[in-house]
Amino acid sequence: MKRYVLIGVAAILLAGVAILVNGPLGAPPDGKILTAAEKSNCGKTAEVTEGPYYVSGTAEFKDGNVNPTNLPGDPLQISGHVYEGLDNSKPVANAMIEIWHTDATGNYHPNGNGPTTNYKAEDIALRGFVKTDATGAYKFNTIYPGEYSGRTRHIHIKVTESGKATLTTQLILAKPGDQISFDDDTVSKGLPTCHLLKFDETTKPQSASFDFRL
Ligand SMILES: [Fe+2]
Repeated sequence: MKRYVLIGVAAILLAGVAILVNGPLGAPPDGKILTAAEKSNCGKTAEVTEGPYYVSGTAEFKDGNVNPTNLPGDPLQISGHVYEGLDNSKPVANAMIEIWHTDATGNYHPNGNGPTTNYKAEDIALRGFVKTDATGAYKFNTIYPGEYSGRTRHIHIKVTESGKATLTTQLILAKPGDQISFDDDTVSKGLPTCHLLKFDETTKPQSASFDFRL
């Protein structure tokens, strides 16, 4: 009997540790709490989940147009650099930047995952990659993604430096009247605030920049 009591006490203690580490039971695994210093420090680009909608083997957008099938939505442009480290002395040339996001209504094309060979070509949209040039610069044009099932507007990104590890992250976008803010979203609340893109609305299309630091 004594052994069962001890096992029970150990289980309760372990559950307590799990709550301290992960937050209340049922809290999303990505919802780690950042300190104020971590929130404001962009540093090396933070990794977050690729989520359930990654399709591998998508094609390159040589002209940087992520929306060649002209799905409706508000146009935007995102540009920046890929660097190794925290200063700008080591630009990463020829890095692959994979991009995938929903349409303006919050649906992925396809709403699934796996390799592209699982899908018809016409079912694939708002997915593909661009490459950095010799200075580490990249640029792409697309439309605002929509909100879906408790998520802020976001663009998934995977940066792959040739022969090295891949960085998986998300860029967060906001519009007035959105249902879920950057601070409430289960994924973005675990990211530094630099991941919330600031758009210049005076450019056509409106534009934002983000540097990926590996
Ligand atoms: Fe997503």
